[in-house]
Amino acid sequence: MRSLAADLAGDIVRRYRIEHDAAVDMVVESFNRNRALVSAVGDAESVDKVKRLRVYRDAATAAKKEIYHHLRRYRPAESSATEAVDRLVAEHSAEAIQAVVAGHVSTAERLSGIEDFFSQLFDHIGSPNSIIDVGCGVLPLVFPLDDPPVAQLWAVDTDPEAIRAVSAHARVDQRVHPVRWDLTEDWPALHAQGLPARLDVALVLKVLPVVARRSPQALAVLASTPADLLVFSGSRTAMAKRQDIERRETGVLRRFFAEHGFTEVGEFRTEDEICLVVRRG
Ligand SMILES: C[S@@+](CC[C@H](N)C(=O)[O-])C[C@H]1O[C@@H](n2cnc3c(N)ncnc32)[C@H](O)[C@@H]1O
Repeated sequence: MRSLAADLAGDIVRRYRIEHDAAVDMVVESFNRNRALVSAVGDAESVDKVKRLRVYRDAATAAKKEIYHHLRRYRPAESSATEAVDRLVAEHSAEAIQAVVAGHVSTAERLSGIEDFFSQLFDHIGSPNSIIDVGCGVLPLVFPLDDPPVAQLWAVDTDPEAIRAVSAHARVDQRVHPVRWDLTEDWPALHAQGLPARLDVALVLKVLPVVARRSPQALAVLASTPADLLVFSGSRTAMAKRQDIERRETGVLRRFFAEHGFTEVGEFRTEDEICLVVRRG
């Protein structure tokens, strides 16, 4: 089922800027609900033969429709996400920020409960002077820095559009330090850009499960994130919103903690996210 899904997901990935694995998961989920397809796959000799069946072609059309319909609520098309960033670059306004944040799946999912998210987060991290948000996406656009006061928010991500958006914001708020960086470049590349040797808190939100699936060799880099208090999170529901994935995501996070010597010191949840707070040792 996964290799059928992976082929179809290619199209979806090209059209929407979502991760390949996320697209595959959504297709698998949709395929699994199709009894006729599940039994055709069970009976078939090869993936190629299944692909020639009408039941597969219908299931593929239905899966695409479902996913496009779901994503359209957040991200109408790649061009409009880019347009929202273009607008933010041209005009730093609350509306322009909102459009970018609503156009990015991870922050869009949080939007309805974002105050509760930040309030629970600060209950756990106290009053840090410096924070690094690893794989930040566009969250730094709405990250509260005034109360309690945060002096530096390092916002690093491999996605050039996310960093373009955060850079537009950093022009009006010098506490924000965006850097385009990939985990595989390791920490020295960021220290060379001015990242302090150590930060009070690191946020790794909805990132680790993605990295564990896509580039497990980069987990060692996440394990050496230069902070003593860290908050890792995973999604509670798959993007297609039908499947509860909290258990799977916390399993990935906890295996990582055990392997790399982190101790859990807290946890909190919002409607879409499970956050685990850890210290080293
Ligand atoms: C699901 S999004 C979460 C974004 C943000 N942390 C949030 O919670 O709103 C995952 C983010 O991790 C980033 N990412 C994935 N692999 C990465 C890597 N190897 N290096 C740096 N960032 C990465 C992606 O570009 C994306 O912005």
